[in-house]
Parts: sequence; structure tokens; C-alpha cells
Amino acid sequence: MSWPGVISAYRAYLPFAESTPIVSLNEGNTPLIRADRLAEALAPGAGLQLYLKYEGLNPTGSFKDRGMTAAITQAVHEGARTVICASTGNTAASAAAYAARAGLRCLVLVPQGKIALGKLAACLAYGAEVISIDGSFDDALALVRELVQRHPIALVNSVNPWRLEGQKTGAFEIVDQLGGRAPDWHCLPVGNAGNISAYWLGYQQYGRGLPRLLGGQAAGAAPLVHGRVIERPETLATAIRIGNPARWQQALQALDASGGIVTAVTDAAILAAWRLLARLEGVFVEPASATGVAALQQQIALGEIDPAGQTAVCVLTGHGLKDPDTAVQQAAPPHRLPADLAALEGYLGRET
Ligand code: F0G
Repeated sequence: MSWPGVISAYRAYLPFAESTPIVSLNEGNTPLIRADRLAEALAPGAGLQLYLKYEGLNPTGSFKDRGMTAAITQAVHEGARTVICASTGNTAASAAAYAARAGLRCLVLVPQGKIALGKLAACLAYGAEVISIDGSFDDALALVRELVQRHPIALVNSVNPWRLEGQKTGAFEIVDQLGGRAPDWHCLPVGNAGNISAYWLGYQQYGRGLPRLLGGQAAGAAPLVHGRVIERPETLATAIRIGNPARWQQALQALDASGGIVTAVTDAAILAAWRLLARLEGVFVEPASATGVAALQQQIALGEIDPAGQTAVCVLTGHGLKDPDTAVQQAAPPHRLPADLAALEGYLGRET
């Protein structure tokens, strides 16, 4: 049977009326990939059971589609004609796709020059009106929150509770894929803090055990770690370049209730984890998505997490093709050879 999308699959756990028409791209049902080589790199000989929840395989290439199917379904149900969001790129691409499918006008506000190419390309392709703000994501979010007070436009950022309703299905899937139990550790990047809040709701509601949450923030954009707003957040992981997360308090409560940890990791550590994912496991993600892995690596190295016999899930939030520029910049350029066999054989025999 084909997968019907997260609302239809988990309808009994979601507050939609049976009669509400669903706007879906058959999102969800992403693979939970066992990562033994990465586990061995992070914790040699410890018997860590590490899994990767590859959310980059959603229809628009990020986890945002889980929440967006719910937010757009509800917006249509309430009669909205126009939707808006502030975004570092993935929310925008997801909103644009689901709005297109529902026939809605879609406006997205993005921070000028700080949105990865694949995200911009997708927004434009889906026909969203892309507005580039001379400011940060936080500035853009403040603007759209004000705008929707004055105009009949549906806000589809994760301040919208329907976003969390859809996003929490990620927790249901992980439990189902692990054979009916939650992992010991659930590791993920934290930006605007919607996803971590949603996962915690999901694990609680599903009632098959609770993990401890490990949230990773980029060192230059770590308001939860420092306990204060970061006025000028900076990180190469542009998806999580956020200084004043909307779900700040809810994320802290979830971290606290789970006995969790929130930590800052440097851009260098994020890139190192990003590289390990691709080279040890063949899983290509955008840099921000490696932040949960970097956080796990750091906490194991510091002795804060004992990996022995533990099960850990790292949520990989976005596909690597979202940010092709970073991938190319981080690698040596391709080898160039004349189109002849001798040259190719010469190359083959060379020391690598
Ligand atoms: N990973 C990726 C790839 C993201 O795009 C985001 C957030 C996060 C992690 C963090 O999730 O905000 O729920 O804590 N991206 C938002 C956007 C801000 O506009 O696309 P969060």
C-alpha cells in the first residue's frame, strides 16, 4: 500500500476532523538508517546503536513538510487565501510547495544573502513571492508576526500550533521503526526550537517511552545555551542562524523534563560531522542537519554521555542538495584530465 502522508497515517493522534480535506504531498515515512560505521567513529567499541532519521527525503527535502501539511490543511479549513512565513529557507520552500498545491498565495521573508541556493531555487520554482529582508531571520519573524495582526493572512511558522501537530509525527515514526520503543537519546539541531518541542510532544503522546533530548546549536547562534538573545547570530549552518527562538521556553521545558542536554558546537565540528555522515554512511545532508551528530560526538568525548549499549537517533533535518555551494566549497575541485586512456591509467596509479 502506498504511504498516504503523515496526517492520514496518524490521524487518530491529530486534532483534525474526519471531514477536513487534507493537503498532502505524501510526506513522512522517511528511513531510519542504522549507522554502524559512524557509531564506531563516535564511540569505538562501545556498542552504540546509532540511527539516522533521514528527513531530507521528504517531498521538499526537509522535515518541515510534516508540519506544513498540517498548517496548510488548517489554513485552508479556516478559509485563508494567503499564507506567509519568515524563514532561513526550508520552511519557505515547504510553505511554497503546500501553498501551490492548495492554490494559495504564498509570501516568504528570508534574510538577504543567508539562504542556501537549493532553498531559494525551490521557493521560486513553486511560485512563492520571495521577499529578501535586509536583516536576520529574527527580524523577519518579528515582521510577519506583526503583519498577521493587521491582515487576514495565515502565519505558517512554527509559532502556529498546527505546525507542531504535524511535526510530532516524526516521533511516532521513530518509535514504530524501532519496533515500538523510544531511543535512549534523541539528537537534533535546534534553531527556532519548533522541532525539539514537537518531538517531545510526540513521544509523550505516543506513550511508548521517552528519550533524553540532546539539542545542538551552532556556537555563533546558541541562545538556549547562553541563556540570552544573540543579536547577530552567525554560522555556516544558515538553517539555524537564529538568535531569538520562538519556542525557546517550550524547548527548555522539554529539555528539562527529558533530562536532556543543550550544547553549542563550532562550525568546524558541524562540518566534521557532516563529512563523517557522507563519507562513512553515504548520507548527504545540509550542514545544519549534522549538528545533532556533532553534539552527540562532543558529549561522548566529554564523558557527559556514556554510549555503552545505548540507542541514539540523530534527526537529519535537511537534504545535502539544499546547500550545494557549501558542499563544493568544502571539497577539492574535481581532477581534470585529457580524454585519453593513458592519462586515466596514469591517474589511477598515482599515490592518493
Ligand atoms: N535543520 C534545518 C535543516 C532547518 O531548516 C531548521 C530550521 C532546523 C534544523 C531547526 O529546526 O527551527 O524547529 O529548531 N529551519 C527554519 C526555517 C528556521 O526557516 O527553515 P527548529
